[in-house]
Amino acid sequence: MLLSKDRVPQVPLMEMNEIHFEEIDLLNELYDTIKSQKPMEQIEKLFNEFLEDVRYHLEFENNAMKESGFFAYPMHRQEHEMRLQELDQLKEQFEKTKNPEIISTYLEQKFVPWLIIHVPTMDNVTAQYLADYL
Ligand SMILES: [Fe+2]
Ligand SMILES: [Fe+2]
Repeated sequence: MLLSKDRVPQVPLMEMNEIHFEEIDLLNELYDTIKSQKPMEQIEKLFNEFLEDVRYHLEFENNAMKESGFFAYPMHRQEHEMRLQELDQLKEQFEKTKNPEIISTYLEQKFVPWLIIHVPTMDNVTAQYLADYL
């Protein structure tokens, strides 16, 4: 396991917490599958599921912010877009090299450090606003 759920604080909107926790489960499953050197097909399948899940997570927040007219929407959305660009690059690199270690290294060094700062800051402010709006 790379990330325990207690390192990602809950925000005041249940739907967002559910999305975060599901993502953490997928992230850990992917990470453990890589670290225990499971077959490549299994890694590829989980990696694709993880990518889809992140896209769903960030689009859910973007849409909610847009619909509610949240003041920090452009800033928050930009952070999401940076991650999606990184993930596109990672996918490309992985398809070229077929080296799963680049995925686990990315998760350790970029994605997790980002998530544990992003959730209690931008997501938390967003959730507070959305909880009042909805
Ligand atoms: Fe989030
Ligand atoms: Fe977010």
